[in-house]
Amino acid sequence: MRILAVSGSLRRDSHNTSLLRGAAEAAPVGVEVELWEGLGDLPIYDQDLEGGELPESVRRLRREWGEADAILFATPEYNGSVPGGLKNAIDWASRPRGEAALENKAVAIVGASMGQFGAMWAQADLRKILGIAGARVVSDELPVTRAHEKFDRHGRLLDAELFERLRGVLHTLASEVGRAARNASSPTLAKAIPRRSRGQHLYPLVPPLPVLSEITAGPPPFRGISTIADAGVSARRR
Ligand SMILES: Cc1cc2nc3c(=O)[nH]c(=O)nc-3n(C[C@H](O)[C@H](O)[C@H](O)COP(=O)(O)O)c2cc1C
Repeated sequence: MRILAVSGSLRRDSHNTSLLRGAAEAAPVGVEVELWEGLGDLPIYDQDLEGGELPESVRRLRREWGEADAILFATPEYNGSVPGGLKNAIDWASRPRGEAALENKAVAIVGASMGQFGAMWAQADLRKILGIAGARVVSDELPVTRAHEKFDRHGRLLDAELFERLRGVLHTLASEVGRAARNASSPTLAKAIPRRSRGQHLYPLVPPLPVLSEITAGPPPFRGISTIADAGVSARRR
């Protein structure tokens, strides 16, 4: 099984890219994790380009994401959300509706930041975005806090527990691919669970986001956070 690993950071010494390299080492038997590097080559999404000759970078993205059995995303948090470059790639991969590279694709999300929240807001937004784009997002979550302490200066993973948690996420993702393949090969189940039809409006499938009062009433680390500034997102800590 081939899982593509997509980092939301273009930074050479990115903790998120290091996390994905760690995932490649943690992969269970039978699972191959391959780092995908094409985010920085993509033009900004432009619907006028659809239907004509698409740029090679976009064709490559759609082909390679489409061919992967599953995709593991690692996202940093930029200003409380997903980096624009990653969102842009997802926008390209979400079209054309009904035959998009992300349509029905099994995906998992991890994320790292140097603060104490582990890019949780970016991961929550990414979960919402990928769900709307038509992907099947597994429920595992992996917020990596204080990322600068989890890798050596060559970007190699130092944390044994994190290694095991990465393996767990990959195991869940691989199981989801296997489950879907079994369902697709069972005539009864294939009939009972129809694929999303071409052009079907997907937005209602995504649960509404919690309002801020629910977040502040929720479990740690959100309890008591009422503003982004309170969440410790300051220029100093970046
Ligand atoms: C433009 C920008 C915005 C950022 N905003 C946040 C933020 O909202 N929350 C946070 O925890 N870290 C924030 N950071 C810090 C990044 O999460 C941190 O630098 C992280 O290591 C980047 O990921 P990378 O190492 O994979 O490049 C920001 C960094 C940049 C460059």
